[in-house]
Amino acid sequence: MSIDERLANTQFPLPVIRQVNQAKHPTAIGLGLGELRDFPVDTKVLDAIQEALHSDGTNYTANAGLPKLRQAVAKRQYATDGFNYSPEHVVVTIGVQNAMYAAIKTLAKLGAKRVLIPAINFGIYRKIPLDFGMEAVTYPLTPDFGIDLARLSEMVLPDDLIVINSPSNPTGRVLTVQEQKELALVLKSCLTGGYVLSDEIYSQLVYEGEPATSFSAFFERTIVLDGISKSAATAGLRVGWIVTRNLKLAQAFTSNNTTVISCPPTLNQYGAIPVVNGDTQPTIDSYNQTLLKNRNHAVGILKKNQIPVVVPRGSFYLFPELSYRIHSPVKQFCIELAKRPDGVVVIPGEAFDAPGYIRISLATDQIEEGMNRLVRMLKEQK
Ligand SMILES: Cc1ncc(COP(=O)(O)O)c(C=O)c1O
Repeated sequence: MSIDERLANTQFPLPVIRQVNQAKHPTAIGLGLGELRDFPVDTKVLDAIQEALHSDGTNYTANAGLPKLRQAVAKRQYATDGFNYSPEHVVVTIGVQNAMYAAIKTLAKLGAKRVLIPAINFGIYRKIPLDFGMEAVTYPLTPDFGIDLARLSEMVLPDDLIVINSPSNPTGRVLTVQEQKELALVLKSCLTGGYVLSDEIYSQLVYEGEPATSFSAFFERTIVLDGISKSAATAGLRVGWIVTRNLKLAQAFTSNNTTVISCPPTLNQYGAIPVVNGDTQPTIDSYNQTLLKNRNHAVGILKKNQIPVVVPRGSFYLFPELSYRIHSPVKQFCIELAKRPDGVVVIPGEAFDAPGYIRISLATDQIEEGMNRLVRMLKEQK
């Protein structure tokens, strides 16, 4: 078969999230956002970009990123896990999406065969391994979206890659220190040649209880993936990074990513420095206050209407199961809901391998009206 024939026979279906957003009526309320779009960006970020415009902001940086940013990431990572990182342990990427791609590509080339991913997951965890001929296998979660440790431990092979994501998209679940210690204890005996890929992109967005701790504080063979997309309300700047304790592995990540991106956008790397340094912490604190308020409103409305939900304390999502209340498939329900002038946009759980659920974003100033509309439409289903 020729290239053109293969192309003609290949379909590129719209992702579920896009399908729902395309159906959106102009007056429907958006509870589907995966970013803090309407939250003000800290002026320190904008000032750093502006300043860089007058220095070397329009030049390439080193392939692994600006030394000053890598130094800031190394320092921040040291503060959470106590390992003496240098800038050489850090590889700057174009967001965590690119970080995950570079890490899995590299580890596949080094012989990794299998990636274990959470049963409810952010979609790229399944898709990226497929690009490299790897198998993605799901591990079960507990009813409150924690990791089912007993069942995970039965599955792990010594050279596996294991993706964890805390705080989680889409569940909002944050692993506690105790849970991470227990996970690390299990992995120390069974994951002797592989790595944990810890997606910590929501690490700064914990609005209640104990803050998030990097999994690398508990397990040495952890590759940390983080960035500024979520916590700084700057998803479009596309700055993320990978941190590993293994310098040779960091070199391998850089080498494998250089053919794809050369280097991350320079101006945006400058913009990330005040975020990583902690200079924008008051702004992040204010985001968390808003998210907590929105969570309380949204959970209150669900509870008042006898709709059970696992109460999250991080990222910015609620993830209730709704299939038992809806006649049509949940995806169809979401599309119908988005189309109505008095509707809302919520994301069908199918996008996260959990078809009975919906994801509600708390990143909005219309949470009450949005939730009331959702509940009204659910009542119509009776
Ligand atoms: C769990 C998770 N990981 C990674 C990403 C991608 O992050 P970035 O925008 O930094 O590429 C997202 C974005 O939605 C996410 O929710």
